[in-house]
Amino acid sequence: MARLGVCYYPEHWPQSRWSEDAATMFEMGLRIVRIGEFAWSRLEPSAGNYTWEWLDSAIATLGDAGLQVVLGTPTATPPRWLVKQHPAILARDPDGRPRKFGSRRHYCFSSETYRDLACGFVEKMAQRYGENPHVVAWQTDNEYGCHNTTVSYSDAAAEAFRLWLARRYGSIDALNQAWGTVFWSQEYSDFEDIDPPNLTVTEANPAHQLDFRRFSSDQVVSFNRAQVEILRRHSPGRDVLHNFMGFETSFDHYDVSADLDVATWDSYPLGFLDQGWCDDDVKARFQRQGHPDFAAFHHDLYRTCGDGRFWVMEQQPGPVNWAPHNPAPLDGMLRLWAWECFAHGGEVTSFFRWRQAPFAQEQMHAGLLRPDGSPDRGVTEVARVASELAALELPDTDRGDIALMIDYDAVWSLEIQPQGREFSYLRWVFEVYQSLRERGLDVDIVGPRHDFDDYKALILPCQPYVSEALADRLRRFSGKTLVGPRSGSKTRDFSIPGQLAPGPLRGLLGLTVLRVESFALAHLEAVQLGNTRYDAVLWREELETDKQVLATFAGEFHQGTAALVENNDFRYLACLASKPLLDKILSDFCEWSGIELAAPLGDVRLRRRGKVQFAFNYGTSPAEAPAPGDAEFLLGGRRLPPAGVSAWRTR
Ligand code: GAL
Repeated sequence: MARLGVCYYPEHWPQSRWSEDAATMFEMGLRIVRIGEFAWSRLEPSAGNYTWEWLDSAIATLGDAGLQVVLGTPTATPPRWLVKQHPAILARDPDGRPRKFGSRRHYCFSSETYRDLACGFVEKMAQRYGENPHVVAWQTDNEYGCHNTTVSYSDAAAEAFRLWLARRYGSIDALNQAWGTVFWSQEYSDFEDIDPPNLTVTEANPAHQLDFRRFSSDQVVSFNRAQVEILRRHSPGRDVLHNFMGFETSFDHYDVSADLDVATWDSYPLGFLDQGWCDDDVKARFQRQGHPDFAAFHHDLYRTCGDGRFWVMEQQPGPVNWAPHNPAPLDGMLRLWAWECFAHGGEVTSFFRWRQAPFAQEQMHAGLLRPDGSPDRGVTEVARVASELAALELPDTDRGDIALMIDYDAVWSLEIQPQGREFSYLRWVFEVYQSLRERGLDVDIVGPRHDFDDYKALILPCQPYVSEALADRLRRFSGKTLVGPRSGSKTRDFSIPGQLAPGPLRGLLGLTVLRVESFALAHLEAVQLGNTRYDAVLWREELETDKQVLATFAGEFHQGTAALVENNDFRYLACLASKPLLDKILSDFCEWSGIELAAPLGDVRLRRRGKVQFAFNYGTSPAEAPAPGDAEFLLGGRRLPPAGVSAWRTR
């Protein structure tokens, strides 16, 4: 059953206030409450001196009011006394400087001392609350990677990295060979001699950098796993989850999620739009709604991470405090965001936070209540969603027709060697997603190790390293595949493959990439597709192929060379595309795959959950839901006001 929740900090308020808060939450229709994730200094004010009693009462108060508690382990905020006693637990930034105490996430994932202290605390917490009837789930830590904290250049990280390398390569010769250290006399004679790749004069060896990113990701995985194991031991039957972030790619979320029951994420649509890459006119148009594809993209990503199960753990409730500008949501957006989460298969939308804190860093961040405890604007919307949810039975989510591959390793390789300043993997992937969503498609996201056999179509927007296993699965795939530029252009060890790109995909795609070039944003490279001229942007490849050419470059230097090639069930795109070109290539690809598209939706977005079709209006003017004439509406109607939501039963 889909539910609503809220993030609450009982330690911020007098105990006399808790029962009123709990009762009001329940009355509003909230059923889940997350607490505890930053409360270490109040639970262990000095080493070994535990003060659980207040948390006992908080859990009892919330639970007695009918709320189910998600308990966070507070390991994102090691307290002052701990840092004072163990200063070596601090992470180090790329300049080698220790992160200071005074905010949060200052620990280093590689510090064994910190792991022991964190796990020691988690064990005590799990022993005390593991079987508490009100505790239904645990959240490990808080937002791994937030504030740029996955990668640390501490001594502990250096040591752990050397061990990681020794395990991976077995011998130093193998490492030298794999990294190509003969270049610039970088050869090593011992794993002990290898440092993290920071503070070098110019760029460090890219294979060295990529391995350091992979290692840093693995450190997050094992840090998380250590907590999960303790929680499972002491708290049987409870879900273990973590709250991931938006557009955060510094560690492999598929790997961390493999140890969890549910993937949750923190959705701040307005903040993300304002601090993100969109053009100013898009930012202005959607400043109170957020980008129409932003939340959906993450719902789809985290549904895959959680193997079908995801929540929004933190939903923006009003203006936030951390973006360059912090507008208020359009009235109705909290409701739209919540319903959109459920439409994508989400189990819970939980708002951050219950009551705005009048003190400290986030005092300008709205809550459902104002700092004085009076209800802020979001409250009526939350209550409305709660009553709508109670009246509507939601079917299970099933698979869509099309899968889009997203790979964290690909993000890291392209960050390490963009070969064109504006080449952004994530932006390109998102543009592909957006174009499909604008035509009404439900898109599933898959990682390079996931199964995609049953889809009609698969898109690899840009997959520099293609493993033999992935190439094999592509060979056996019976649907259509669209492969984007730079795919198969690197080996696992970050070299150019022996027979050039697309490496292991050469046979499947029927082509070889002879040369690549990148451009500044201002340069548009003409592409001829059918009778129409389009533009490629930022990136172009020169192909050798005897397969069918569907589009050609038409600029004066490369007139007639292949831009889009078809071979059996595969198509290969040899450039990044401007929006009109991308839209055209994707709609042709869907048609070729037997996937039906809606007419362009403007600011409306669709999502089907089982036999219920949802429509959302992200625009500021009314729109029409593309429902059949005799549609039986379950929510709203044909007319979609700004921030409107409609749902109807499909046949
Ligand atoms: C999240 C974080 C919360 C709070 C929130 C403010 O990134 O998990 O603790 O800081 O942002 O928007």
